[in-house]
Amino acid sequence: MPILNRLLRSTLRSQFGPFTKVVNSTRRASQDHGILAPFLSRLYSTEALAKKEASKFKGHDMIAPSTSGWEINNVNPLVIERSEGSYVYDIDGNKYLDSLAGLWCTSLGGNEPRLVAAAMAQLNTLPFYHSFWNQTTKPPLALAKELLEMFTARKMGKVFFTNSGSEANDTQVKLVWYYNNALGRPKKKKIIARSKAYHGSTVIAASLTGLPNLHKKFDIPAPFVRHTDCPHYWRYHLPGETEEEFSTRLVKNLEDLILKEGPETIAAFIAEPVMGAGGVILPPATYFEKVQAVLKKYDILFIADEVICAFGRLGTMFGCDKYNIQPDLVSTAKALSSAYIPIGAVIVSPEISDVIHSQSTELGSFSHGFTYSGHPAACAVALETLKIYKERNIVEQVNRISPRFQDGIKAFSDSPIIGEIRGTGLISGTDFVDNKSPNDPFPPEWGVGRYFGNECKNNGLLVRGGGGNTVTMSPSFMISPQEVDELISKYGKALKATEERVKELKAKKK
Ligand SMILES: Cc1ncc(COP(=O)(O)O)c(C=O)c1O
Repeated sequence: MPILNRLLRSTLRSQFGPFTKVVNSTRRASQDHGILAPFLSRLYSTEALAKKEASKFKGHDMIAPSTSGWEINNVNPLVIERSEGSYVYDIDGNKYLDSLAGLWCTSLGGNEPRLVAAAMAQLNTLPFYHSFWNQTTKPPLALAKELLEMFTARKMGKVFFTNSGSEANDTQVKLVWYYNNALGRPKKKKIIARSKAYHGSTVIAASLTGLPNLHKKFDIPAPFVRHTDCPHYWRYHLPGETEEEFSTRLVKNLEDLILKEGPETIAAFIAEPVMGAGGVILPPATYFEKVQAVLKKYDILFIADEVICAFGRLGTMFGCDKYNIQPDLVSTAKALSSAYIPIGAVIVSPEISDVIHSQSTELGSFSHGFTYSGHPAACAVALETLKIYKERNIVEQVNRISPRFQDGIKAFSDSPIIGEIRGTGLISGTDFVDNKSPNDPFPPEWGVGRYFGNECKNNGLLVRGGGGNTVTMSPSFMISPQEVDELISKYGKALKATEERVKELKAKKK
């Protein structure tokens, strides 16, 4: 055994020379555990080493979303290991207030035991069975019923389950085509989306997305997609134009686009009630009212992408409730399961579901579906999530906490490097610009948004900074008043540092 220990120690030393602490702990473990020592020490040492090494992880083996090859090869990623309430912890034990709730999704925070228990109970009973060929399981049946009861902006008919928001939006387009083919309108196939919208990453969802980076070199958008104006009043209004006038102008542009393309070719319009990834853009006054009137006029379906907005984020159960939208189709995901297990749901009007039923009867089946459509464990977690929303009266909870969050952040609006801070409920966006004008962006190479994001991180706050000059936040619905105060204080510190940085960069430029 001593030979084995010596061998192990020398191997460790030769491979990981500087980590004498690890070697010492290996030695201690060997002395304490007799015959098992070499194996235990090996276990301890590899764990300890894994931890030490993991803090590097530079050049890892993933093609990672929204990350460049250069970053993967040259910058250690932030590796999160554990979460608790509004906080997450990295592998080095650093604690961060997660102002984005993962990716706008862990609505009930990082360690809701009831969701874990719901998953475990289902996994122990029936980890999987599918929903194809008129076979299914109980959780998706119950969840579909629940969703139809919860969505009250208008009466809806049926629910189709997906694994993500992207799959939900892809499904929407297929449903709209299927519907128009059934109605004998084979030309009515184009979809109008909006600039700066985010609808996901699959071929169709990314095509609907109105962010050029999502299209570059991917040979998208697909030819059936058109984009109309982004409704960001602060950025795009004309001098002297009111919000209502701005809405009228944008909706006139939408109508012009419909007429130019031919109304008989336009099948649907897709919109997030509040745009998320595009920068948290709230609809200007009267916008959706006017949009819906035009869509009705030309018999165009409204797809509400509620992937971020649904289940309380805006201070209403759905974004459609907030803006009086009566959609034909609705996409949900994210907060549907508080992101504990992937799931998305498409909610469909009775008019559309009736047509789907009759056409699929004629064809022999509705030939669309995913292995995991209505996954029992995901549905069980979603059911428990919705139960918790009801029990905790989540809409009231969001409305109680959101003024503290919104007012606290908006108090920084006078900063010389901020153009606009906007938001509603528990969602917020900040635009960094020079001279408080949307026409004076900071040079991209200054990386002002990124600098701010890094400063937040150094202060123990995670925000969505990205590469641009817009920073967004959407904390868990369970964030406490003290945590909101902490978030605001950390945001303030990062802002001060960013103001100093901009001053320096400006001085250098002169
Ligand atoms: C509004 C909206 N739609 C769709 C998606 C895509 O969802 P997923 O990433 O689950 O595919 C997102 C993701 O952020 C989103 O914000």
